[in-house]
Amino acid sequence: MAKLKSVFVCSQCGNDSPKWLGRCPVCGEWNSYVEEFISKQHLVKESSELSNFIPQQSKPVLLQDITTGDEIRMDTGDRELNRVLGGGLVPGSLVLIGGEPGIGKSTLVLQTVLKLNTYKILYISGEESAKQLKLRAERLEKSNENLFIVCETNLERIFVHINNLKPDILIIDSIQTIYTERIESGPGSVSQVRECSVALLKFAKETSIPTLLIGHINKEGNIAGPKVLEHIVDTVLQFEGDQHYMYRILRSMKNRFGSTSELGIYEMRQNGLREVNNPSEMLLTQNHEGLSGAAIAAAIEGIRPFLIETQSLVSTAAYGMPQRSATGFDIRRMNMLLAVLEKRAGFKLIQKDVFLNIAGGLRVSDPALDLAVISAILSSSLDIAIDRETCLSGEVGLSGEIRPVNRIEQRILEAEKLGFNKIIIPHNNLKGFDTNRISIRIVSVKKVEDAFRELFG
Ligand code: TYD
Ligand code: MG
Repeated sequence: MAKLKSVFVCSQCGNDSPKWLGRCPVCGEWNSYVEEFISKQHLVKESSELSNFIPQQSKPVLLQDITTGDEIRMDTGDRELNRVLGGGLVPGSLVLIGGEPGIGKSTLVLQTVLKLNTYKILYISGEESAKQLKLRAERLEKSNENLFIVCETNLERIFVHINNLKPDILIIDSIQTIYTERIESGPGSVSQVRECSVALLKFAKETSIPTLLIGHINKEGNIAGPKVLEHIVDTVLQFEGDQHYMYRILRSMKNRFGSTSELGIYEMRQNGLREVNNPSEMLLTQNHEGLSGAAIAAAIEGIRPFLIETQSLVSTAAYGMPQRSATGFDIRRMNMLLAVLEKRAGFKLIQKDVFLNIAGGLRVSDPALDLAVISAILSSSLDIAIDRETCLSGEVGLSGEIRPVNRIEQRILEAEKLGFNKIIIPHNNLKGFDTNRISIRIVSVKKVEDAFRELFG
């Protein structure tokens, strides 16, 4: 029987200490230390195992001598997922898909691998029984004769299955249910999660088998377990969206093989997730002709332009403190825009409740949304509707100036494609831009006052 040793591990950053600490000296988090038991045997092994990571004959090479060749990527058959991954699955990569329970992580992964007939896939399920997975696959109305399911949570036994089967892709659902015998603490604990993911990383790198980990999110919105999990893996994808909305967003939080500004959009249907290749459709399904408080923004997330509706409601504050609430938009930024509105448009918003909502449950960080947000608020406040054929794009500065935004041409073309007949853009974006081949009417503005005059007369 291996000797037990107890350590205290920070559940935020994974730092360990022989005694309990109230505050982690590394990440500064309070009350994050939990006690864990580690077998002596494991502690001795750790240092020798670490050296396995370093290739035996490593020697310095000149950067110019390194050949990259064309990176081979596996097509996942899902355009949204491919794009978020940076062009497909990289062999040997460890990808973490995180999200709240019930958001659709298992559904996303299962329906993706069900379509991949050409690869041998091993799906390790620690949460659902084989029967449940079969029922889900039936619901997704797809089948794949190369998909193997194992319900197992012991890492050592999982590796036996992998060795026997030699899959092309490995899926672990979820990392929090897997445990290794070498550590005494329970599944889902900091050291178990860390140990199992390090072992899986080593496996992925050595065999070039891409490995997908599914991970839970804790109540603070972080991936449960230590932050180190996010450091270990190559790519972190977050699957988010309101459970009550049908749209789901796959966001890249970290990617060693691609950009992190990519978004994948899905719609949850009765028979699985449907790719939303044209995100503007989220907007086009609604039609509130003549209603005040709505403005349409030409936004860009990642490489994709899309049109999104911003909605606002301004009403007289019933109680002393006016309420300010924003869904899908940074509340501090909204407060800044309200201050600009107050100063530049002379609107007394002090006694007003202001609610802001980005349609479809989307969270957008593109600053070009500012102009639409500020216009929606003013539209609600004045109770004058903005023409449905008009969209806006522009960042608002503190002095009320409209600042240029990136890739304006793409935004304009998207608006034109969707049948808008007018777009309001920053004046400075007109430079070096050929307006001849565009049929949509372009109105350029320098200040918020110009935009308001254009919209509300
Ligand atoms: P699931 O993939 O089990 O979530 P996670 O693995 O992230 O915990 O998703 C479960 C939810 O998705 C559940 O509420 C039912 C819903 N769902 C559908 O609406 N349609 C479907 O075809 C499937 C398979 C699930
Ligand atoms: Mg699941």
